[in-house]
Parts: sequence; structure tokens; C-alpha cells
Amino acid sequence: MQPEQQIYARVIDNLDRAVIATDQEGHIVLFNPTAQAYTGLSEKQCLGRHYEQLFAGQAEILALIQQTLSAGRSISDDEDVFLHPSAGPPIPISITVSPIFGSGSDQEGVVMIIRDLSRTKELEEALRHADRLSMLGTLAAGLAHEVKNPLGGIRGAAQLLEMELGDNSPLQEYTSVMIKEVERVDGIIEELMDLSRPRPLSKNEVDLNQMLGDLLLLQQEAHRERNICFVLDLDPSIPPISGDEALLTRLFLNLIKNAAEAVKQNGVISISCKIVSDYHLHNPGKRPVPWIVVEITDDGPGISKEEKERIFTPFYTTKVGGSGLGLATCQKIIGSHNGFIRVKSKPNEGTTFRVSLPFIRESA
Ligand SMILES: Nc1ncnc2c1ncn2[C@@H]1O[C@H](COP(=O)(O)OP(=O)(O)O)[C@@H](O)[C@H]1O
Ligand SMILES: [Mg+2]
Repeated sequence: MQPEQQIYARVIDNLDRAVIATDQEGHIVLFNPTAQAYTGLSEKQCLGRHYEQLFAGQAEILALIQQTLSAGRSISDDEDVFLHPSAGPPIPISITVSPIFGSGSDQEGVVMIIRDLSRTKELEEALRHADRLSMLGTLAAGLAHEVKNPLGGIRGAAQLLEMELGDNSPLQEYTSVMIKEVERVDGIIEELMDLSRPRPLSKNEVDLNQMLGDLLLLQQEAHRERNICFVLDLDPSIPPISGDEALLTRLFLNLIKNAAEAVKQNGVISISCKIVSDYHLHNPGKRPVPWIVVEITDDGPGISKEEKERIFTPFYTTKVGGSGLGLATCQKIIGSHNGFIRVKSKPNEGTTFRVSLPFIRESA
């Protein structure tokens, strides 16, 4: 190979986009390593094969290649195009197919460049949630202020009444209900204000593996009568990360608690913690940051697609006595750690909450 060709080859091999080229008859002539990673097929399996075979059943992609082969101009699509790998779920992609011209003006084939949009979609979803939360937060803060003062007045009056009535009055029962209920409402408002208030993180070194193990023991004990099976899958090589320990504990406690509340007798909850280092859409152009990914999976009733849109909204709950503030709080804690959360769920099969936090060492 000429030095110049070597450079081209190296660039294509190292590109984090799938690059696939065909000749004018539609046979694959180039299949770079990223294309192999996206499709789960090796270069050897693909070279020489016809693109119609490779993308069988993937109508959008077939149509784009077909058009470029016949019309000889570039076509792009990034709306609802999915690549179906040999195993695993479809990947949302953006794709550009361009003609390849030889030294004459004859078209010699096409080249397609494919980009995996999963992370972008995840970030979009996380942003949507975060936006909604901050809007509701402003509203809630205003409302909380308006309600807290009169509430204080009611409590004060009820306490005076209680004193007036004296210890043996049968009416004491009513005043104590009043005071208790006022305090409950006050508690909810406090929680809501907490959610809408920016709070500086008090960062220290957090051992996530240890934290998850401890939380698991607590929840196992709390739900002993239902005999829940907890499965832990921790990567022991994960060092302590920099984060707010109290908040991260609250975050994972909320998620594990929700899972435990979702499962039935003998339900199964798996908790895993891993380092994933290939995600770098968060800071385009910067060096890739490794992420700590914690997944909490349960085999409970699952969450429908419509419901999924709502679960992060403050006060959305389907539980008797639920506050509906758990996931909103989680969202806020994750946001303040510059991470994001994703829900995967199939009704009747179960739910996975996946939390990704940027991996930052204490020393950083
Ligand atoms: N693991 C889960 N499985 C099924 N549904 C869930 C799960 N986690 C959360 N949910 C749904 O999201 C709602 C909101 O959760 P959350 O904000 O923690 O509030 P709460 O637990 O007080 O209801 C729950 O009421 C439930 O409907
Ligand atoms: Mg909850």
C-alpha cells in the first residue's frame, strides 16, 4: 500500500462512524470496524455480499442505497431510521449515502456513512425531562410560598384551640388531626421546595459498590415478608468517584425502593454497576469521558409508553399513599451530577432504570 493509501485506510478504520461502500452492482467492498460493531457482523462475513442481503428487511436503508445507485446523488436521512443489528434491539441512526465517482465521470458505487444516535436520543429525552422539571419547579416554588404562610396560621390557631380546650376535652381529637394534617402538607411542600431549590453539592469520595450493597441489605430487610431475590453485579475495579454521598444515597434508595414496591412475592431485582467508556456525546469534540452506569432492573408490572412520559413529573404516582416525588428528586440529583437517567420497560416483563454518571475521580 502507498503511504497515502495507508493514511486513508487508517482514517476509515478509526472513524467512529460506520463506513460501508458497495460497487455499482451493489456488492460490499468496504466495511470498516465501526460498521462491524454496529451490525455485529465481521468484515469477512460482509465483503462481496450484496447490500440487499445485508440489509434485508430494512426498507428505509435499502431505498436510500437504491436511489443513490440509480440517481447518482447524495441522500441523507436522520428521522426515524433504524439499523437492525444481527443481535439486540434496533439502533436509531442517521445515514448519508453518496455516490462514488471514478477518475472518469462513471459512478463506481456508493458509500454510506452511518452514525449511531442512541446517545443523542437519550440526551434529548433527558433534556426534555429536565426542562419540564425546572418549569414545574418554578411554579411549585411560587405556590409553596403562597401556601406555607396560611398553613402556619392554621397550625397556630389549632395549637391555641388545643390549649384552650384543655387536656380532658373530647374535642382534642379534632385539633390533633388538624395539626397532624397541617404538618403532613407542610412536609410535602418542604420536599417540593427542596426539589426546586438549587443546592450546592457537598462532594466527597463515594464508593458506589459499597453504597449499593448497603442499600440492598436495607431494602431486603424492609421487604422481608415478600422474599425478594436481589442480584448484585458490581465491577470490583470501580474506584470511588467524586459525588455528594447523601444525595447519591437518596437517588439509589429511591430507585431500589420503587423496584421493591413494583415486584410481587419472590420478585427479582438486579443491580449492576459498570464503567462504560465509549460514550462521548456529552462533550462533543472533547476527549471521551468514561461513565459509571448503574442499572436497576425489576421483574414487576413494567411501565407503559404513555406512563413513561409522566413518571418523572412531580406528584405523579400510581401508589396509594405515594408522594410521586421520588423520581423527580432522582432526576434532580442526577442532573446536579451532570448525568442522565433512562428507563427501559416492557409491560408485564419488568423495568430497568439506567443511571449514567460521568466518571470523575476525587483527585480531579
Ligand atoms: N420500577 C418501577 N416499576 C413500575 N412502575 C414504576 C417503577 N418505578 C416507578 N414507577 C412508577 O412511577 C411512579 C412515580 O414514582 P416515584 O416518583 O418514585 O413516586 P412514588 O414512588 O411515590 O409513587 C410510581 O407511582 C409508579 O407508577
Ligand atoms: Mg418512589
